[in-house]
Amino acid sequence: MKFAILGSGTGSNAEAILKAYRAGTLGKAEPVAIFCDIPGAKILSHGETYGVPATFLDPGPFKTKFSPEREAAYAEAIKAAGADWIVLAGFMRVLKAPLLEAFPDRIINLHPSLLPSFPGLDGIGQAWRYGVAVSGCTVHYVNSAVDGGAIIDQAVVRREKTDTPESFAQKIHAAEHKILPDVIRRISLGEA
Ligand code: GRF
Repeated sequence: MKFAILGSGTGSNAEAILKAYRAGTLGKAEPVAIFCDIPGAKILSHGETYGVPATFLDPGPFKTKFSPEREAAYAEAIKAAGADWIVLAGFMRVLKAPLLEAFPDRIINLHPSLLPSFPGLDGIGQAWRYGVAVSGCTVHYVNSAVDGGAIIDQAVVRREKTDTPESFAQKIHAAEHKILPDVIRRISLGEA
């Protein structure tokens, strides 16, 4: 299972994946490339640290989607890197036909809430403001519905009385850093 990681930001989840690979706990999965839609984003530096090629690729002029030509260019670059799977780790752009059709049922995404609750932007803040007693994170297949594909796994995080928005977010991120490498490992071994 050779996969590309797509991200837009700090890349702490990409780092967790690369660490797991280095530690030999990613099963038969191998990260072969990182692509990022934001020039200079921190996720690019993790590629350097872990020896995985990390590239900024122009997504086109829109904020939350690709232009069709640029999405096709992403699909081509990902294939050229030798990847047959895509892991979205903090990638802040909706995927459409060019990528979905190039990698059918081979794209997974991480979302920081217990879907189907709180899809879309700021899943952690949405859950906090709603006042939930538990939230968490979800890894799911990607289809054309935003955060709407089949769920692969979820981890629950309890909101304690003593939590602040920051500590709650931290706990959810810690859960993400475990669940995403674990799901990748299980998919690579045919166990998920
Ligand atoms: C994560 O919370 C992920 O669930 C969300 O964006 C965040 C990315 O964090 N989609 P990082 O870039 O992996 O640190």
